[in-house]
Amino acid sequence: MIINGPNLNLLGQREPGIYGTGTMAECLDGLRRRYPDVAIDYYQSNVEGFLIDKLHEVGFSYDGIALNAGAYTHTSVALHDAIRAIPAPVVEVHLSNVHAREAFRHTSLIAAACRGVVCGFGLDSYRLAVEALLG
Ligand code: DQA
Repeated sequence: MIINGPNLNLLGQREPGIYGTGTMAECLDGLRRRYPDVAIDYYQSNVEGFLIDKLHEVGFSYDGIALNAGAYTHTSVALHDAIRAIPAPVVEVHLSNVHAREAFRHTSLIAAACRGVVCGFGLDSYRLAVEALLG
């Protein structure tokens, strides 16, 4: 499962100098072609509680979750708790290298609850996260 948080519905249009011009649809298309035997579902919400609901919904049955929580990465204890509450491994994902950006992006409140973190590789970060989950 790939889960995207706030403002990531605008990928391709949003700050292309930072996030690129590729869309999530293209990324998912590429992943599904590359891994035809792997079911890759996708969910996006701008609402923190809906992201938590989705983690609860899939977190007891899916094999793994790649989560780009967007700005909630830096603020949400509730997402941290939701990740800890489910057995599915979660990989934290970011397109940009958050450590090379503003100081407020250097802190992740969810990283300690995740299996690992992939950041800085643009849309390829999602592929790397999926590959990490496939082991
Ligand atoms: C982001 C990085 C976050 O700091 C930011 O708030 C986002 C996108 C990334 O993918 O690089 O919305 O998660």
